[in-house]
Amino acid sequence: MSFSFENKVALVTGAASGIGLATAKAFAQAGAAVALADVNGEAAQAQAETLVAAGHKAIGLRCDVSNIDQVEAMINDTVAAFGRLDAAFNNAGIQNILAEIADATVEDYDRVMSVNLRGVWACMKFELEHMRRQGSGTIVNCSSLGGLVGGAERANYHAAKHGVIGLTKSAALEYAARNIRVNAVCPGLIWTPMADQMVASGQGEALEGMTKAVPMGRHGQPEEIADAVLWLSSTSSSYVTGQSISVDGGFVMR
Ligand SMILES: NC(=O)c1ccc[n+]([C@@H]2O[C@H](COP(=O)([O-])OP(=O)(O)OC[C@H]3O[C@@H](n4cnc5c(N)ncnc54)[C@H](O)[C@@H]3O)[C@@H](O)[C@H]2O)c1
Repeated sequence: MSFSFENKVALVTGAASGIGLATAKAFAQAGAAVALADVNGEAAQAQAETLVAAGHKAIGLRCDVSNIDQVEAMINDTVAAFGRLDAAFNNAGIQNILAEIADATVEDYDRVMSVNLRGVWACMKFELEHMRRQGSGTIVNCSSLGGLVGGAERANYHAAKHGVIGLTKSAALEYAARNIRVNAVCPGLIWTPMADQMVASGQGEALEGMTKAVPMGRHGQPEEIADAVLWLSSTSSSYVTGQSISVDGGFVMR
C-alpha cells in the first residue's frame, strides 16, 4: 500500500526500534518530514541520520514520554524544525514485569502506567494543542491486543493499553468536528526487539504458544503495523475516527 505524505510532517515516539522505526521509515518513504523521538536519543539520532543519508527529511530527538516537560519540548522541537505537525504516532511502550496482581509492586504499576498510558496522554495533550491551532491533524495511538482482552500476569500492561483506547475515543469525540482524527492500532504478536526481550526473559515458550494461537499461524512484521498507521494517518481514512484497529492475524476475534 502506498500513500503520499509529501509536504507533511510526522512525529513517531519509540522510533528507534521495532514498530516505531518501521513506521518512521514508512512515513519518510511516503514523503513526510519525520521526527523520530525515543528515550534512547542516540539511537533515534542514528536512525534519523540514516534516513537523511537516503535523501529523506528527518530529525532524531531524545524524549522520555513519561516526562511531561520532555514531551512538550519534543512537540516544540518538531514544529521548530519542520513548521507544522500533521501526523503523530504515539507508539512508545514497555512491558510490565510478569506477576500476579497480588505479587506485583506499585513501582512496576507506576512505571508501566507512566509510559504506556500517561505518556500517550501527555503526547496527545501537546499534539492536540498544536493541531487545534493549526486546524488539522491525525493521531494514531499504539494500544495492543492487550487493550482488548485480559492477560494473566500482565494486568498493568493490559490496563494501560485498555486506557489508551479510552483516551483515543474521548479525544476523537472532542475533535471530530475540528478536522482532527484520533485512532488507535492494536498490534497482535509482532516480531520486534520487544519480542526478543521476552524470549531473553524466559517467555520464549509462551510466545511460541501465542504464535500457534494466531489464526493466521504466524507472528506479524513491524511493517504490517506501519501500513495500518499510514492508512489511519492518510486522507484514505478521512471518515474514520475513534477506532481501534486490530492488526493481529485474527488473534482477538476468536
Ligand atoms: N511487539 C509486539 O508484539 C507488540 C504487540 C502489541 C503492542 N505493541 C506495542 O507496540 C509499541 C512498540 O513496541 P515494539 O514491539 O516496537 O517495542 P520495541 O521495544 O522494539 O520498541 C519500543 C521503543 O520505545 C522506546 N521507549 C521505551 N520507553 C520509552 C519512553 N519512556 N519514552 C520514549 N521512548 C521509549 C524504546 O527505547 C524503543 O526504541 C509499544 O507500545 C508496544 O506496547 C507491541
